[in-house]
Amino acid sequence: MAQKLRLAVLLSGSGTNLQSFLDRSASGTLNAQVVVVVSDRPGVHGLKRGELANIPTRVIDYGAHLERGREDWERLELPVDLRKLDEVQQILHFSDDAKRLGRLAGLVLAEDEMIRQVDAFQPDYIVLAGFMRLLSPYFLRHYNRGDMWRVLNIHPSLLPAFPGQRGYEDTFHYGVKWGGVTVHFADEGEDTGPIFAQAVYPVWPNDDLESLRRRGLQLEYAVYAQCINWLASGQVRFSRSSRGRTTVEILDPKYPEILKAWSVLACSDET
Ligand code: GRF
Repeated sequence: MAQKLRLAVLLSGSGTNLQSFLDRSASGTLNAQVVVVVSDRPGVHGLKRGELANIPTRVIDYGAHLERGREDWERLELPVDLRKLDEVQQILHFSDDAKRLGRLAGLVLAEDEMIRQVDAFQPDYIVLAGFMRLLSPYFLRHYNRGDMWRVLNIHPSLLPAFPGQRGYEDTFHYGVKWGGVTVHFADEGEDTGPIFAQAVYPVWPNDDLESLRRRGLQLEYAVYAQCINWLASGQVRFSRSSRGRTTVEILDPKYPEILKAWSVLACSDET
């Protein structure tokens, strides 16, 4: 029997991926339980979904932390050396030092609070499900150690195509004939971490953005839950490619069958 993992789910919006975890957890098809839901925005529907399922919820006031960082970054006592962090971060690209360091300081303040809130629930994994904030190495290094990758993300495109915040829009407007979804481990770049699993869906000639998004989301729910089950059953191995990239191997003998099932699901709403 696979171990039940403890998940901290981070989101910013409607939380349909969270709902899929909650439903699957309740029906016993997800070997995990959501132990806390964290949002960077108050009042979002994802928080409501957590409350309805009696899961503790927390809101991190990113706005206030970012403002404090912007105003006080030179005076703040931070839990990390800001300039050293700036040397390794890959998410903020402003050339204006004060602007960049101020933003980084604000992120550290927000992340420090988030780490404290999240760790009180002793999660095994941090699961990003529509969390629209960039995470700094301060947060990521707290959870990722060596080959222990503990922060997962789902991205609505076939990475490395279309990184960033508009995966479905970019897929639709580019005119590709297949879209995709990617579950990956979060590293210090934006949508660049080791790819865990991917699935593709067709783009039909009469699709609009909403029909494409609906098809992709159905696939997201299936792929994300499966990835968590693979982690729960220990069927995941990390290795290093000859080019120095961390790669993820899935050891499940049913892997080919599962890929085929995803393809069937992806094509099941042909219009
Ligand atoms: C999903 O499309 C996910 O891939 C992306 O953000 C969206 C979140 O949707 N990262 P929801 O809040 O789970 O409905």
